[in-house]
Amino acid sequence: MRHDHLITSKQLSRADVETVLDRAAEIDADPSAVADRHAGSLLGLLFFEPSTRTKMSFEAAMKRLGGDVVDMGSVESSSVKKGETLADTVRVIEGYADALVLRHPKQGAATMASEFVDVPLLNAGDGAGHHPTQTLLDLYTIRENAGLEDLTVGIMGDLKYGRTVHSLAHALTNFDARQHFVSPESLRLPREVVYDLHQAGNGAGIREHESLEEVLPSLDVLYVTRIQRERFPDENEYQKVAGEYQIDLETLEAADDDLTVMHPLPRVDEIAPEIDDTEYAAYFEQAHNGVPVRMALLDLLLSNGGETDE
Ligand code: NCD
Repeated sequence: MRHDHLITSKQLSRADVETVLDRAAEIDADPSAVADRHAGSLLGLLFFEPSTRTKMSFEAAMKRLGGDVVDMGSVESSSVKKGETLADTVRVIEGYADALVLRHPKQGAATMASEFVDVPLLNAGDGAGHHPTQTLLDLYTIRENAGLEDLTVGIMGDLKYGRTVHSLAHALTNFDARQHFVSPESLRLPREVVYDLHQAGNGAGIREHESLEEVLPSLDVLYVTRIQRERFPDENEYQKVAGEYQIDLETLEAADDDLTVMHPLPRVDEIAPEIDDTEYAAYFEQAHNGVPVRMALLDLLLSNGGETDE
C-alpha cells in the first residue's frame, strides 16, 4: 500500500485491500503481539459529526497498538465555534499527532483538509461522500462470512446519501462482485457513482431495483443501510421514504440459508430485532471488526512514515 491519506475507497487496489485484511486477520488471531508496537504514537481525532463506532473503534485500535489519542472533542467545545476554518484546525492538530482521523458533514471536506497536512489523514466520513475505513471492515466481514470470490451482494436502503454504500460499491469492483442496488427511485445511487462503477469495469455486474423480492434468493450478502435523515434537504421528503425497505424473519424466508445480513449501524428500524440472534446476522460482528481492521490500517500507515509498501 502506498498512500499518505485515505480519502476514498477508489484509491484501494485489490492488493491494498488484501494487505490490510490479511494484517487484520493476523492481529485478530494474536492482538498481544502488537500491544506495544506503536507506543508513543498519537492519533488525532476530529469528529465534526456524531459517531459511536467509528470514533471509539479508532480509539480502541490506537490504544491496543500501545499508542494514544488526542481528541478535538465536540464541535461545541472547540474553537470551531469561534469561526476557525477546517484548514486551520487540521494544520494545528497535525502538530499534535502522527496521523489524523476526520469526520465532517461536508462532502469533499477530507480531500480539502488533506491538502493542508503532511501526516496521514483518514477520512472517517465526509457528508454523503465516502467512508473508506468502514469499507475495509465491511470487506473483512464479508470475507469471513461469505468469501470475496464469486460474490453476489444486495445493497439496500439509502443509496443516495449513504457514504458507506458509495465506498463499498467501489471497493467491490476489485473483486468483480455482482451488485444489486435496492432502493426507492428517489434514493437510488447518484449517477456519478454509477458512472464510476462502469469506469471501474464492473458495469456488467451492476443492477438497480426497487424491490428486494426479485433478487433476495440470489444473494450471498444483504447490506442494509439507514435512511440518512440528517442529509435530506426537506423533512417531508424524508417522511415519504422513512420506514420503507425494512426486513424481518418473514422477509428472509425467501433467502438462501447461508445469507449474511450486514448493516454499518446505527440501525433505526431497517432490521427487525428478531433477526439479531439468527445465523443471518453479522452486523454486531461487523462493528467489532472495526478494531482489528483499524489496528491493521494504522499499523501499516505508522510503520513506514505514512508510506507503506506491500
Ligand atoms: C455510518 C456512517 O456514519 O456513515 N455509520 C458508521 O460509521 N458505522 C452509517 C450511518 O450513519 O448510517
